[in-house]
Amino acid sequence: MKNKEILQINQIDPGNSGQIGQLADLYADVFAGPPWNEVTKCADTGSFYGSDTTVGSPCPDCQTPLLEAYPREETIRYILGELGKSNPIGLLAFVNNELAGFSWGYQTDVNSLAMSKWKTPKMQEAVKSLLVDYGVTDKLFYGSETGVDPKFQGKGLGKKLVTARLNRIISSNERYALVRTNVNSPMYGIINGSWIKGGMDGFTQILGPVADTKFWTGEWQQKNTYINMLDSENPERVLFLFDKKRYENIQKQPTPGQLMSAGW
Ligand SMILES: CC(C)(COP(=O)(O)OP(=O)(O)OC[C@H]1O[C@@H](n2cnc3c(N)ncnc32)[C@H](O)[C@@H]1OP(=O)(O)O)[C@@H](O)C(=O)NCCC(=O)NCCS
Ligand SMILES: [Zn+2]
Repeated sequence: MKNKEILQINQIDPGNSGQIGQLADLYADVFAGPPWNEVTKCADTGSFYGSDTTVGSPCPDCQTPLLEAYPREETIRYILGELGKSNPIGLLAFVNNELAGFSWGYQTDVNSLAMSKWKTPKMQEAVKSLLVDYGVTDKLFYGSETGVDPKFQGKGLGKKLVTARLNRIISSNERYALVRTNVNSPMYGIINGSWIKGGMDGFTQILGPVADTKFWTGEWQQKNTYINMLDSENPERVLFLFDKKRYENIQKQPTPGQLMSAGW
């Protein structure tokens, strides 16, 4: 953020219909941008199409007229549904009073999460046993959606929103939080960090391909390794698990300065 830009992060107010309407418009703008390019959708199959298509023109695959990818009323209903779940955390970022980003999530449990977010019984079972292996047997926070207006992306706003959401989780009763993303998404860098920067304390990658920055150019690239397994529904998918106990242990470790004054 430049000095003259004033950033504010506020809680979403589901009762403020003007604000929720603006959020629905921003949601549509975020997913119309890269890498999603979801501008229209087929009325028949629900598949999304990009900026080379227009609302009302025939679907490239089946000729059914195309609809808006994220119609306002439907998106408002979706967002209010998300914020109506158990123990929701919903945040908005404003830059100079202009709505620029959002991040929300809610409490769920291992079984509901696996059944609602994966389609195949194979992956539903795999995700459940993976979470159980990491000690998550019942409730957890699901970091559902984060987005930044394409014109404000790459300035650190996404990281600030995810950090603010995490701080709320840390001060709640929740022990675990899950973030589901893609190895090529900036979200990967926000959570995991790079070899030089390090990531957000308390998170462990528990599924999917690994990425890092190239030594010389700092450019992000997928490496030829993965953690535990690849998601057969989407081989680029990545899961990060936050464990508050792990986070607290990291915070308790002495800093290099403290070690030196203790005679190390
Ligand atoms: C994901 C999103 C919210 C990030 O917001 P943003 O404000 O642009 O992100 P930031 O500027 O805070 O951070 C970008 C970080 O990602 C890193 N990054 C960029 N490209 C990356 C890539 N391909 N892979 C991994 N990390 C990457 C950057 O290095 C940067 O980290 P750094 O500041 O430590 O160097 C935004 O890109 C977005 O809205 N995308 C569309 C919607 C979406 O995909 N949401 C997330 C779904 S999980
Ligand atoms: Zn179609």
